[in-house]
Amino acid sequence: MTTAYRNPYPNPGHAALHLARAASLAPSPHNIQPWFFAEEGHDRGFEVHADNGRRLLLTDPGGRQAAIAGGAALFNVRIAVRQLGFRPVVNVLPVPGRPGFLARVGFGAHAPVTRGEARMVWAMGHRRTHRGRFASGALTESLVDDLRAQARAEGAELRSVDSPDRVELLADLVGTAEDRHRADRGHAAELARCVGPWGLPAEACLGHPDLTLLAGRDYLGLAHRYTVPVRNRRAGTGSVLVLSTAGDGRADWLRAGQALQRVLLYAAARDAVAAFHTQPLEVPALRAEVRAWFTPGRFPQMVLRLGHAAPTPRPPRRPLDGLLVHESALASGR
Ligand SMILES: Cc1cc2nc3c(=O)[nH]c(=O)nc-3n(C[C@H](O)[C@H](O)[C@H](O)COP(=O)(O)O)c2cc1C
Repeated sequence: MTTAYRNPYPNPGHAALHLARAASLAPSPHNIQPWFFAEEGHDRGFEVHADNGRRLLLTDPGGRQAAIAGGAALFNVRIAVRQLGFRPVVNVLPVPGRPGFLARVGFGAHAPVTRGEARMVWAMGHRRTHRGRFASGALTESLVDDLRAQARAEGAELRSVDSPDRVELLADLVGTAEDRHRADRGHAAELARCVGPWGLPAEACLGHPDLTLLAGRDYLGLAHRYTVPVRNRRAGTGSVLVLSTAGDGRADWLRAGQALQRVLLYAAARDAVAAFHTQPLEVPALRAEVRAWFTPGRFPQMVLRLGHAAPTPRPPRRPLDGLLVHESALASGR
């Protein structure tokens, strides 16, 4: 995996460093961190860019998930600007014809950070992706209602999959996709390349991937060693939710990413964690089924489980030098 640009500007502004640090805490598929950031000098503005060299070519050929990750990083930047006491001025996809330039964030009017935003700041550093069973059952209805409102505030929709029949139907679609990925050598190799001290540490995926109703990603090829009986997969599945958007273009993916991160931070501030089951959204025919059954008329962007669980260590992030460049370096087209 390569970083697109070298940094000729070794002393970035303090605000830019603060924003880059926050952005890089966002989740990304298998921790690929498909982004880099540019500052416009003297803390005038901050840019979020896609790093196409880090995309998953088999899992995410169209770059949908990488853009969702970019949207999540953008939401963190917005919250980090609020932490500094300014309103973020966000321009999404600001330059026509440059789809990799995901967003520009400027500093608007001064406004003190609210209590809710302060909780999100705390959650940025504490949120983790969970894999496997949750310690308890589903989330309370009122927390799920709040999470729905958080997604709605970003222009996305979060729907719960409540009845056991529908959870089983969704689990079937996840399982079908996961079986295909497991049987495909190219996919397995792409996944294996993401595991390591620089990506997703092996310790983060040591659990059997089939401990709950929704199959997990088999990062370490553990599934063929033994099978977990279906009756043992029901406990600890947690609340199952699907995030969707009205459209399915790049701007919608960025919207989905911001909604995802807003939901994850709101949940993390209340001790709830999420597990991701995006496999059926990577196979067009299965994504169409998820769409027809769970988000009719809309486009499914994420399949999630949420619940409560003991904290896990955070996978490492790339160092900020190399991640944060000066905008003039991009303009000169290095
Ligand atoms: C679009 C997207 C898709 C993801 N898909 C999966 C997945 O299928 N399985 C999984 O275990 N984690 C998935 N993740 C979570 C990442 O593995 C996780 O964010 C990354 O390892 C960094 O860890 P952290 O979230 O704990 O900081 C996904 C994240 C994003 C943003």
